[in-house]
Amino acid sequence: MSALQSDPSGPWKGTIRVPGDKSISHRALIFGGLAVGETRVSGLLEAEDVLATADAMRALGAEITKDPDGTWRIIGVGIGGLVEPDRVLDLGNSGTGVRLLLGVVATHPITTMFTGDTSLCSRPMGRVINPLTEMGAQFTARGDNRLPLTVVGSHRPLPITYRTPVPSAQVKSAILLAGLNTPGITQVIEATPTRDHTERMLVKFGANVSISEVAAEADGAGGHSISLVGQPELKSTEVIVPADPSSAAFLAVAGLIIPGSELELGNVGVNPLRAGLFGVLADMDADLTRSNESEIGGEPVADFIVRGGIRGGNGLKGVTVPAGHAPSMIDEFPILAMAAACATGTSRFEGLAELRIKESDRLSAIVDGLTAAGVTITATDDSIEIKGCGGPPPGGATIDCQHDHRIAMAFLVLGAAAKEPITVTGAETIATSWPGFDETCNGLGARIAASDAAPANIQNA
Ligand code: S3P
Repeated sequence: MSALQSDPSGPWKGTIRVPGDKSISHRALIFGGLAVGETRVSGLLEAEDVLATADAMRALGAEITKDPDGTWRIIGVGIGGLVEPDRVLDLGNSGTGVRLLLGVVATHPITTMFTGDTSLCSRPMGRVINPLTEMGAQFTARGDNRLPLTVVGSHRPLPITYRTPVPSAQVKSAILLAGLNTPGITQVIEATPTRDHTERMLVKFGANVSISEVAAEADGAGGHSISLVGQPELKSTEVIVPADPSSAAFLAVAGLIIPGSELELGNVGVNPLRAGLFGVLADMDADLTRSNESEIGGEPVADFIVRGGIRGGNGLKGVTVPAGHAPSMIDEFPILAMAAACATGTSRFEGLAELRIKESDRLSAIVDGLTAAGVTITATDDSIEIKGCGGPPPGGATIDCQHDHRIAMAFLVLGAAAKEPITVTGAETIATSWPGFDETCNGLGARIAASDAAPANIQNA
């Protein structure tokens, strides 16, 4: 286990393009692997999660290579053309990788085994197993639908109409990916729309997708409907991956809570179903400007400039984020909590039940970490309330990030803005989404260095 210590720092300054979008990178590899011909991808995120998906797609028959100039080439097998892997597919820490691939293999007549790291093996898979079983796949999973598991793909898949019981782009995507090798129309209805990278990429690869709002039925539930015509020929294409808004979020908040900072973040994905954090920061009176709106590869992008106020008064005020906003910023609550800890006034975030089953129980991890750092925070099952310090929080804590990259990065950012250092143990997990995060931050002004701290739970033993 490696630990990183983040010391209080001076201002962070610079212009930077953060690494490629993780969600879009997974999808580019999967769609490229299912298309006919050669797909070229530039800006792919080269982090452990995405590389695990690349490796799994290779085991399923796709040819995936990287050119010296950094472009990735994928030669796909075509829908229905996957081969049975001769080894267990290990998706490491990646919920997106495993859930999307479960959808892909569920409607191919092959048997596939999946596993992952401690965190992934504790996450619920029933949410995808249930609809994929309706489509004809058979699963043998460890107790309570956890990994490791085996899926026997259906020889005669059936199209379904499925109303997702939880707001999850992974569940929606797994069903649509299963629908690719299923005759007829596969339909997913969501109560609240979730990130639509899958739908956008399906269209880009030539699939027939229709989106509509469906009226409320007798049970009172209307929703957002996505229908896919099965068994298209996916045509290879070129994908340009925008900078990841979830990664940009760490630097945006760092730039706001560390007085005197000024950071320019280029080409950030601003898909409205994904980039809700930036609107919330604006509601907190953040000094944040957005410019150069354009579109790359079917996804909207923009540049941001953030500036931090003077120490003792960073200018941020507390905010309430209602439940309806949660899906558009579901991965950003750890770093938003750090902004709230430095703001003036109380912040309240609602509708956070899904945070309990991310790479860690993020709701508990935020509460435990902020409490250890001297911030007053209370929680219910699905909400948190943070009393802002109106400036630098005390800090001086050691936090075990529990195999969760976003918890690790959020608390390292807080360490830079706090009065005393914050140490994060298990920080190697940051490589799942942003290898070199500490060096990048240090290049901007952070003071993050290796530490020999033991995990907090061992220290307390
Ligand atoms: C993702 C969807 C979200 C998100 C995850 C990436 C995706 O998960 O938390 O980091 O790429 O589809 P859920 O679908 O479980 O909300």
